[in-house]
Amino acid sequence: MFEEKTVLRIPGPTPVPPEVTRAMTHAMIGHRSGDFSSLLAEVEASLRDLFQTSGDVAVIAGTGTGGLEAAVYSMVHAGDRVLAISTGNFGDRFTEIARRTEADVISLNCEWGQPAKVEEVARILAEHSDIRVVLLTHCETSTGVLNNVQQIAHITQEYGAYLIVDAVSSFVGSPLPMDEWNVDVVVTGSQKALGLPPGLALVAMSSRAIERVKNGPAARSFYFDLKRYQKGLGDSTTPWTPPVSLIYGLRESLLMIQEEGLQQAQRRHRLLRDMTRAGIRAMGLSLVVNDEKSASDTVTTVFVPDADQVCKVMKNDLHIVVAGGQKQLSGKIIRIGHMGYVDASDMLQCLAALEIALVKTGYKMELGAGVRAAQEVYLHASNSRD
Ligand SMILES: Cc1ncc(COP(=O)(O)O)c(C=O)c1O
Repeated sequence: MFEEKTVLRIPGPTPVPPEVTRAMTHAMIGHRSGDFSSLLAEVEASLRDLFQTSGDVAVIAGTGTGGLEAAVYSMVHAGDRVLAISTGNFGDRFTEIARRTEADVISLNCEWGQPAKVEEVARILAEHSDIRVVLLTHCETSTGVLNNVQQIAHITQEYGAYLIVDAVSSFVGSPLPMDEWNVDVVVTGSQKALGLPPGLALVAMSSRAIERVKNGPAARSFYFDLKRYQKGLGDSTTPWTPPVSLIYGLRESLLMIQEEGLQQAQRRHRLLRDMTRAGIRAMGLSLVVNDEKSASDTVTTVFVPDADQVCKVMKNDLHIVVAGGQKQLSGKIIRIGHMGYVDASDMLQCLAALEIALVKTGYKMELGAGVRAAQEVYLHASNSRD
């Protein structure tokens, strides 16, 4: 009966709104046609608004990792010194991408669950004045940490280096006005807060990044060479056959975000975060990220006794899918995604299901405590809005 019923509360892929699903059923069109160029031009204009940049946004068939590769391969030149900041599993992957280039990579590996320390980044940049590119993950999805992009961008700019930010799981959910903060490249993927299926990577380039890409050598990757994407954008075209259906879906998703308003979308994500965190605390569980300032707006991570079993009960009994931990946090935590097409009632449902799974797996708590705390956060926020 419920074979296809799945409530996705993982940090991506996220639920796809019916409007987006319908948009993707648009009849296929030729990608070298005027119709496609108009579609891409419209999408490109909305993306510039959303990334808050006067630069360009490459729309690439690939996932977030493809976008990161495109950014690194196009911005990092042979022999460059790169500072790769890692605060978890995704930061480690970003570092690994840089290591596959002919760059000289300095790693800053931070303790899992903690954000990168701005003073430490400043110290390394001061020590190695030839660092050309800095890599930073905005929301580290493996730990739920939100790094301070604004302050790190400020320092990076001071030392004349380029900053590439992995915003795969933070884009739309958390503020990241790239031009205002002097971020050179921002990368995201379709299957997170944009509410699309996986398969699109978006790489936004500031005017400074565009100059570097244009004037630099051809990237070592043929497919992911941003120079080719950037050149095509002048004629609203892509270098290779684009995923047309996903781009129709993207147009719809961007319209929906415009309709809600970016600031309101960010307020909504913040509220979902606060409801979830209050609920978790009221259940007597520990959050991986204690400091509110470094807590992600899009994914909440929680230490849970018998975490894998809790995930199983939530899925098998209640059809709600949350994620387990990765690497050193495997079996110790659960990760609850609250990004994209998600509202307050979704989080109440998720917290209620989590309570049931906890009690079923032997955890002692008063049923309803977490839901109640989240309801209070919701009511407080809606009273102060009214
Ligand atoms: C922060 C971050 N970076 C990179 C990725 C990799 O993206 P993809 O799996 O779309 O290649 C993810 C995916 O969850 C992510 O959360």
